[in-house]
Amino acid sequence: MVHKIIFGSSRDMKELEDDSVHLVVTSPPYFNAPFDYPDLFESYESFLELMREVAQELKRVLAKGRIVAYVCDDMLVDGRRYPIVADLIKIFIELGFKYRDRITWVKPEGYIRTSRRSGVLIQHPYPMYYYPDNIQESILVFQNGDFDYKSVSKEMKEESKIDLEQTQREKWYLNVWNITNVLPVGNRLEKGIAAFPEEIPNRLIRLFSYKGETVLDPFMGSGTTLKVAVELGRECVGYEIDQELLEVVQQKLGVTQERGFDPLSEYEIVIRDDARRLRTELQRRVGRRQEHE
Ligand SMILES: C[S@@+](CC[C@H](N)C(=O)[O-])C[C@H]1O[C@@H](n2cnc3c(N)ncnc32)[C@H](O)[C@@H]1O
Repeated sequence: MVHKIIFGSSRDMKELEDDSVHLVVTSPPYFNAPFDYPDLFESYESFLELMREVAQELKRVLAKGRIVAYVCDDMLVDGRRYPIVADLIKIFIELGFKYRDRITWVKPEGYIRTSRRSGVLIQHPYPMYYYPDNIQESILVFQNGDFDYKSVSKEMKEESKIDLEQTQREKWYLNVWNITNVLPVGNRLEKGIAAFPEEIPNRLIRLFSYKGETVLDPFMGSGTTLKVAVELGRECVGYEIDQELLEVVQQKLGVTQERGFDPLSEYEIVIRDDARRLRTELQRRVGRRQEHE
């Protein structure tokens, strides 16, 4: 299999043909999230414009009836809450996608990385001082029209059969998924990337694609979706604007190591003219903010 890794903006996915992708699993940049992306976007409007352009490209490259899953959340920046979940749903519906489901991903209580807002009530135990701590994100599931179930052969179905014993035991059948998140602290590979845990793409890829099909992540980050896709026998494509993440992605996918986990795979890596260098500068900004807190 040949997997593609493209450094450049996913507002243009010219490397991909129409209807060539079978599943999209991603989490978009968390707007100007103070812990990861301070001042990445000039304005909320420019963030939404990028979301719209990427969604338009997804509509073009995604095969009919197939799924787009966005892991996302509203964002609190300098005291203002931005309704990212609602705006993404609106954008996808306006572009003709079917809004199929919203799964709530719940993280363990001890894994909060953002500030603990609940402390306000402890300091002021009176009405109107209540601010809850956030331990959830949404997984938005959109569908590109109806899926033709008859287009899949019996053999294909059997090869990708879902383990019902596991889905029952781990309660995949609920629209609330309890999954431990990745804390990008210390020397972790994912530091400053806001990576999601492998369990999220693992469930989505098993539930919404067949073996041998193509999975796309238009906001690749450290490459979690791609790693899991390859492990599950799918072909993958990733777009990432920040070329400083090349090494992290290579490390995660074992591309540079002699002993890659999948010796049969080949990776095509393209660095386009519109790729940028972001990580060092963003981490500097995060550090400056923390000093001022
Ligand atoms: C929330 S992170 C994705 C993390 C990823 N799911 C993982 O597990 O590592 C979003 C990524 O989108 C990238 N990004 C931002 N704007 C982009 C664009 N226009 N095109 C492609 N990637 C972009 C950011 O640099 C960041 O790495």
